[in-house]
Amino acid sequence: MGRLIVVSNRVATPTETKGSAGGLAVGVFGALKDAGGVWFGWSGDVVSETVANAGPMLEQDGAVTFATVGLTRKDYDQYYRGFSNATLWPVFHYRNDLARYEREEYAGYRRVNAWLAHKLVKLLEPDDIIWIHDYHLIPFAEALRSEGVTNRIGFFLHIPFPAPQILLNIPPHEELVKSLSCYDLLGFQTATDQQAFHDYVTRHARGTVSADGSVEAFGRKLRTGVYRIGVFPDEIAEQAKRYESRQHVLELKQSLEGRKLIMSVDRLDYSKGLVERFRAFELLLERSPEWRGNVTLVQIAPPTRSDVATYQKIRQDLEYEAGRINGRYSGLDYTPIRYLNQQYDRWKLMSLFRESQIGFVTPLHDGMNLVAKEYVAAQNPDDPGVLVLSIFAGAAAELSGAVLVNPHDAIGMCEALQRALQMPLDARQRRHEINMAALRENDLGVWRDSFLRDLRSVPVRRSGEGGGHQ
Ligand code: G6P
Repeated sequence: MGRLIVVSNRVATPTETKGSAGGLAVGVFGALKDAGGVWFGWSGDVVSETVANAGPMLEQDGAVTFATVGLTRKDYDQYYRGFSNATLWPVFHYRNDLARYEREEYAGYRRVNAWLAHKLVKLLEPDDIIWIHDYHLIPFAEALRSEGVTNRIGFFLHIPFPAPQILLNIPPHEELVKSLSCYDLLGFQTATDQQAFHDYVTRHARGTVSADGSVEAFGRKLRTGVYRIGVFPDEIAEQAKRYESRQHVLELKQSLEGRKLIMSVDRLDYSKGLVERFRAFELLLERSPEWRGNVTLVQIAPPTRSDVATYQKIRQDLEYEAGRINGRYSGLDYTPIRYLNQQYDRWKLMSLFRESQIGFVTPLHDGMNLVAKEYVAAQNPDDPGVLVLSIFAGAAAELSGAVLVNPHDAIGMCEALQRALQMPLDARQRRHEINMAALRENDLGVWRDSFLRDLRSVPVRRSGEGGGHQ
């Protein structure tokens, strides 16, 4: 069997994979480390043209080769900060109001995809299987194909795929979907995302969709499927337990003085519904005076993409809200919201999750949201916390033991918090068992294996064969 080549915009360092990496990086590394293979992408560094062209840098860790390149300032600005994070990210998260479109940035996005693909070609062997991840790399297969690569190439979208009417806001929407049709297999997080892609194909690309999810569009055939990314729940449970009596947990416990704990962890991103969440918590204190002084919300939100203007704005908004709410309800020995702009190692987070009574995960739109899954897995089955989860997280389709909320309904979220805070042990245990069963049934290994099995079952193309498989 050929090697697995994984490509994602960001490649975690071998050290990060053991500690601070989150979301996509954890999923991708989890997929690679057993099977072995190559993980190729951006190092996260902005470098001179000479250094960028000298790469890739190779680093070996067990069976995984990390192959990374730096980006020049111009490439970073146009491809990463510009089209990926100021156009695609907001629109794919239904925030057209926060999106902008610049033709030069889009040209830069395509140029960097072609450049990265060119770098990868030199590392490829004929029977390698290639798995591309996320919105930064939509044109990657097209670029590889134009270099004559005939290997099987799959794509997994970690974020939502928007309804066609939303996607139309991106002027080159048709080119983007045409680029997607160069893959052999497209994977989505949920059936809703897959459906949105199919809707675009039939309504705007004069294409056809078969009952098994196969698509014909732009003269190409490809497969599509739903592959819900998961976690390894028993590994997390074991880790959370192992670290439960470490210093950081004891300090937190001591400082809470018996108060209930609500935990939230997100990148500081406007798609995560942080302002709405703070207001729902404020409403809890406003409507239920008995909770004042008796419940604390710990929000961990490491800053991200902080040179994109919309991210500076969400940071300001949140600082204002945290200050305002704390000003209103703090006591000399009580701060209702502890708001931390710091990155924590995963094992620390898991043990903090285990200490809390509620995991409050309320994105306005989210591909899957692995924090929701990690929260469940980290709980003590004898006394589990309750997950309060947005219906707009992909995870909501699986975690039927969560208390589901609409993040636009502040009173509804406040009522959900009240319910979760008062939930009796047997109900919490029942919900936890339901959620754990769902996590075990569809763990990270299932996600990886089912995607790769489907990709391997695509007939390999003959050299000179363009477009999609026949
Ligand atoms: C999301 C995206 C990933 C991205 C991660 C961190 O999870 O789906 O592709 O890597 O955020 O964002 P950053 O811009 O820091 O890589």
